[in-house]
Amino acid sequence: MIREVLRMGDSRLLRVAQPVTDFGSPQLAELLQDMRDTMAHLDGAGLAAPQIGVDLRVVIFGCGINPRYPEAPPVPDTVLINPELVPLSAEEEEGWEGCLSVPGLRGWVPRWRFLRYTGYDEAGQRFERTVEGFHARVVQHECDHLDGILYPMRVRDFRRFGFIAELFGDSVESSADS
Ligand code: NI
Repeated sequence: MIREVLRMGDSRLLRVAQPVTDFGSPQLAELLQDMRDTMAHLDGAGLAAPQIGVDLRVVIFGCGINPRYPEAPPVPDTVLINPELVPLSAEEEEGWEGCLSVPGLRGWVPRWRFLRYTGYDEAGQRFERTVEGFHARVVQHECDHLDGILYPMRVRDFRRFGFIAELFGDSVESSADS
């Protein structure tokens, strides 16, 4: 079921979400289906459970090759529960981000470039990945939602935060909202 996405200003987006303890439950399966439906409906690259008002440490993300931006690397469709993120170096990379909870805007956000993340899939299987670049950015953006952090809170230069049409004109930039 497509759910309403909360927008910035809603205090439910500011909570530190609770860990999942019951894997394989019908409730978790329904939550994930709703998240997939909602993300697909909005053509997003990721979604965190708090964005639909569910106070759990669950995110989904993934995007294939977009024919308009073939240089953007694909990110596998992923369910990530109770994640832990470890930066693998101090190196940061800045890039544009958008968020389904902050519609119509983009901001220039620093993120760790190299990242290892661990967590659980929907069956409760632990997994680990070492990633970089855009994949690392998407994971950091989504997991921030679990700690009540929205990307505008990480913008350092507010000259690079604004409405998509004003920032980019006719040339739509590459990243989808997440
Ligand atoms: Ni977001």
